[in-house]
Amino acid sequence: MSINITKDDLIYPYFIQEGVNKKSAIKSFPGVYRFSIDKLLGDIEETRQLGIKKILLFGIPLSKYPDARSAYALDNIVARAVKKIKQEFRDIVIMTDVCLCAYTTHGHCKVLKKDAKWPDNKKTLEALSKIALSHAASGADWVAPSAMAKNQVSAIRETLDKNDFKDTKIMGYSAKFASNFYGPFRNAASSAPRSGDRRPYQLDFLDGKQALKKIADDIKEGADIVMVKPALGYLDIIKEARQRFSHPLAAYNVSGEYAFVKYGARQGLWDEKKMVFEILSSIRRAGADLIITYHAQDVAKWLKKR
Ligand code: PBG
Repeated sequence: MSINITKDDLIYPYFIQEGVNKKSAIKSFPGVYRFSIDKLLGDIEETRQLGIKKILLFGIPLSKYPDARSAYALDNIVARAVKKIKQEFRDIVIMTDVCLCAYTTHGHCKVLKKDAKWPDNKKTLEALSKIALSHAASGADWVAPSAMAKNQVSAIRETLDKNDFKDTKIMGYSAKFASNFYGPFRNAASSAPRSGDRRPYQLDFLDGKQALKKIADDIKEGADIVMVKPALGYLDIIKEARQRFSHPLAAYNVSGEYAFVKYGARQGLWDEKKMVFEILSSIRRAGADLIITYHAQDVAKWLKKR
């Protein structure tokens, strides 16, 4: 069975929780866990042995605040994890998700205005910049803003440059759709909005034009890598972005897309490996250079066996 990707093209996501010796299963997210930092290091070693060298980190804080302050506190969970990973492994490319939704009491990706209804873009950009800076200062190689806040890439670029982190790359979650496919992830990060939804700031799935405009905007603002998310229902966007832009292009094969495959395989509807190879190959064929996928460890094992 052939596949048109290599291990270098894959990015493996990790969820990090407080505590020690913890590896906790997540509801409706088979095969994905929340790791305490000590346990995380062990799993990264496995991933590395399998030949996957790129990881994307998501933090789950102990306490949430309306202004997401636990996301940018000096000792925030992601910053601590990054430091440890850097100490232990030199050859891992560490990417960090930069967003507020796992850290806010209301579960939105933004700081809200006093009336708690509308996002406060200025405060959101300040928070995102502080988060990105804390990750970069700890040694993150790439920061990945995913809040869909206007000008988030330029705000972060400016903060990083000012603080002498010119080499830290920015991967924009440029075209991020308001999707039904994020369910398992929201269980993992406990980041579902407590009221309302993300349609005011994530893209309408009918609007391909807006998605391409967002990608162009991120490039103008200084993104090093741009992203389309989710992947599978949006292959047309990936393809068009590939044709229009020469920037490295990532696609996020999101939690719901992953869970589909897992549950279907359990039911005997399809062969998991064949299905994963078909899906990832299609994302690649559409034009993605990099694929963020929870299947990465499995794929590496399958590739090894051949
Ligand atoms: C945070 C964020 C989300 C995902 C990645 N970053 C969820 C959301 O927007 O609600 C989803 C990833 C997945 O489903 O695997 N803004």
